[in-house]
Amino acid sequence: MRYTLKQIHCRPWTLNSLSLKLIESHYENNYGGALRRLNAITEQLESLDFAKTPAHVLNGLKREELVALNSTLLHELYFASMGGDGKPTKGMMEILARDFGTFDRWRAEFSAMGYALGGGSGWVLLTYVPRDGRLINQYAAEHSQAVASGVPILALDMYEHAYHMDFGANAKAYVDTFLRNVDWPALEQRYDDAAKVPAPRLLEQPEFGDIAGIGVEDVRAMMAAGKPVQVIDVRPRAALSRLQDIAEGVQCRDPEQLQQWIGELSKSEPVVVYCAYGFHVGCRTAIKLREAGFDAKYMNSGHSGWKAIGAPVKIAP
Ligand SMILES: [Fe+2]
Repeated sequence: MRYTLKQIHCRPWTLNSLSLKLIESHYENNYGGALRRLNAITEQLESLDFAKTPAHVLNGLKREELVALNSTLLHELYFASMGGDGKPTKGMMEILARDFGTFDRWRAEFSAMGYALGGGSGWVLLTYVPRDGRLINQYAAEHSQAVASGVPILALDMYEHAYHMDFGANAKAYVDTFLRNVDWPALEQRYDDAAKVPAPRLLEQPEFGDIAGIGVEDVRAMMAAGKPVQVIDVRPRAALSRLQDIAEGVQCRDPEQLQQWIGELSKSEPVVVYCAYGFHVGCRTAIKLREAGFDAKYMNSGHSGWKAIGAPVKIAP
């Protein structure tokens, strides 16, 4: 497979306070150089007999492939990031305020990250994270540092070749100039595309029908706020004696003996039950409680999830 050159996205002669000479050199030597390197590495990899290739040779080539591939992708995004009038669209201002508190807060962090890379090198990226459905400002000291599954939509190149010709060591002036050239309508289109990437699929347990689950964070918050909720650890006895610890402020009840303790519960307050990891026992117990007329849910991730968020536990009596 050969990677092909992409035309520069912005019109270089229209950029504000960035010289044609700088942009041409950047596109031809740095973007073009990465692409040529990527194709040379790819050709070399295709010719390898993996059974006879020493580990250090393969490691080195795969590392260089990652660096060169990301360099081409990020440079294409960098050139596409510019060419506008630097005036944020209403839509992007709202999205950035949603994810960063205020638009100015986003801008302050993004700029400061660029300033901080002056004298060093790397990328500052605005990246959409599908799992969380939000944007983050991401630092990438090497072309190869990327948020797994992230979709970068704005790229600021902080390698010296991106600005030294026009700005010398004045990285701050370059960052400010970059922001005055951002093409915001195009950025908003890229955001719209990125936001269509679905979050990774959550665990499904169709065998338990539509029984409602509740997150460990929500249960912890309800308990901390003193909201009325009856939280019950229904791990099987065997698991309890092995694990020893239980969540603070929670009752332990044997799921096999449900009929003996169901009378202790109040129907006027919600009930949350959980087992070790959020699978069978908690779900089945919640179903039985709902059938008996309780407002019952099972806690996702169970006791392990409770510990994974650092919520308090105590040694079982
Ligand atoms: Fe560059």
